[in-house]
Amino acid sequence: MTEWAPVITIDGPTASGKGTVAHRVATALGFGVLDSGALYRLTALSVLRNHIDPEDAQAVARIAESLQVVFHAQGILLEGQEVSEDIRQEQVGNLASHIAPNPSLRAALLARQRAFRIMPGLVADGRDMGTVVFEDASLKIFLVADVEARAQRRCKQLIEKGISANLADLLRDMRERDARDINRAVAPLVAAPDAYTVDSSNLTIEQTVQSILDLWSAVGSQ
Ligand code: C5P
Repeated sequence: MTEWAPVITIDGPTASGKGTVAHRVATALGFGVLDSGALYRLTALSVLRNHIDPEDAQAVARIAESLQVVFHAQGILLEGQEVSEDIRQEQVGNLASHIAPNPSLRAALLARQRAFRIMPGLVADGRDMGTVVFEDASLKIFLVADVEARAQRRCKQLIEKGISANLADLLRDMRERDARDINRAVAPLVAAPDAYTVDSSNLTIEQTVQSILDLWSAVGSQ
């Protein structure tokens, strides 16, 4: 009966706070979480480590199909090795957004993402959760924030993790990545017609989480 588990999708541009918000909403409801961006980043890391040509669409899709990944409470294992910090590097995120338009790659990751839909429910974050992967989701959120606010948040996050970061570079990369995600032909970053847009530019994480939980009580859990 896995197909009937309720899903809340949270899509939006890079660093809009989707990951943190998705985890908190999931914890409040006792649901599982899918960080779909991590799957694109894991593929990108594997492409780098195996010296695969990112332009070779079939080779990249094969890498995605054969990824040996374990998501656990403290992190992510790729081929038995802890990689949660490695996949957060900007180089890996940028490569992930370069390979993401590849339709064979997206098809290869589809079943892997849908397998996360188990009872009692799932909060899935990414770019195409509400438009493609979980089109029948009970509640769809499109989480936005202005690009300066997002670049500042990402800069702070990276510095806190001991990763060097430069605000101007982040801002430029973020604008480029948004443009690639929005303008690609396959599964572009766009709000599903039935999504609720939440702008977190002037909201705290707690306020953003609460606004999603309020929507869930009002419309999603029916
Ligand atoms: O969300 P995150 O920044 O970790 O995602 C990295 C990249 O993976 C994004 O820039 C996007 O190009 C791609 N992605 C995607 N579809 C998703 C999640 C991420 O294309 N559902």
